[in-house]
Amino acid sequence: MKIFLDTANLDELKKGASWGIVDGVTTNPTLIAKEGRPIAEQVRLICDIVDGDISAEVVSTEASAMIKEGKELAKIHKNIVVKCPLTRDGIQATKALSSEGIRVNVTLCFSPGQALLAAKAGAYIISPFVGRLDDIGWTGMDLVRQILQIYKNYGFKTQVLAASLRSPLHVVDAALAGSHIGTMPFKVLDMLFNHPLTDKGLDQFLKDYAKAFPEAPGR
Ligand code: E4P
Repeated sequence: MKIFLDTANLDELKKGASWGIVDGVTTNPTLIAKEGRPIAEQVRLICDIVDGDISAEVVSTEASAMIKEGKELAKIHKNIVVKCPLTRDGIQATKALSSEGIRVNVTLCFSPGQALLAAKAGAYIISPFVGRLDDIGWTGMDLVRQILQIYKNYGFKTQVLAASLRSPLHVVDAALAGSHIGTMPFKVLDMLFNHPLTDKGLDQFLKDYAKAFPEAPGR
C-alpha cells in the first residue's frame, strides 16, 4: 500500500519525506487554510519536498469553473493530481479533465454507488472517508472493501485511497483490505513506528554491547 501524508504542513512533510517512506500527499482546503498560503502557492512548495502524487483540491463548485481551476492546478507541477468533490458538477469536471489526460482524485466519497460514478468518469483515484463514516456510526472500512470489490468486478483502473484515517489500526485495516493507498496525518504515520518491545529490545542490545566494548564507536 502506498503511504500518503494528509497534511499541507511543510515541516511535517520534510520530516516524513526524510524517512523515505512517503509516496505522496493529500491536501484539502481546510488543511491548506491552516498553513496561510493559497492552494497554488502551498502545493508548489509541497512538490519540492515530496516526489509523488500531490493532490490539490479545486474550490469552485460549478463544473466549468472546476475544469478551469483544475487545468491551472495541473500546470503547477507534473505530480499534481486535481481533487474534485463527488458532486454532479465534480463528476462532470472529472470526466472532462480525465479526458484531457489530467489525473483526478475524486474526494468526499461516502458510498459505493458514488465510487462507481467516479470510476466511470475516469478518476485516477477515489477517496472514501473512513473516519468520517465511523464518526456517524458506520464502519468506514466496509466502504473501502465494497469499492475494491466493485472495481475488481469490472476491471476499473481507479486507485482506492483510504482517507480520513485516524489511527494506526485504520492504516493496518486499510492495508488488509487491499487499499492501493492510505493517507494519514503525520501523527498517525509517526505512531506506526512505535512498539514498546522495539524500544526495550534496542535498549538491551546497546547496554550489552556497551558493557562488552566500552570504547566502541558511536559513544
Ligand atoms: C483526504 O484526502 C482528506 O483530506 C482527509 O483524509 C480528511 O480527513 P479528516 O476526516 O480527518 O479531516
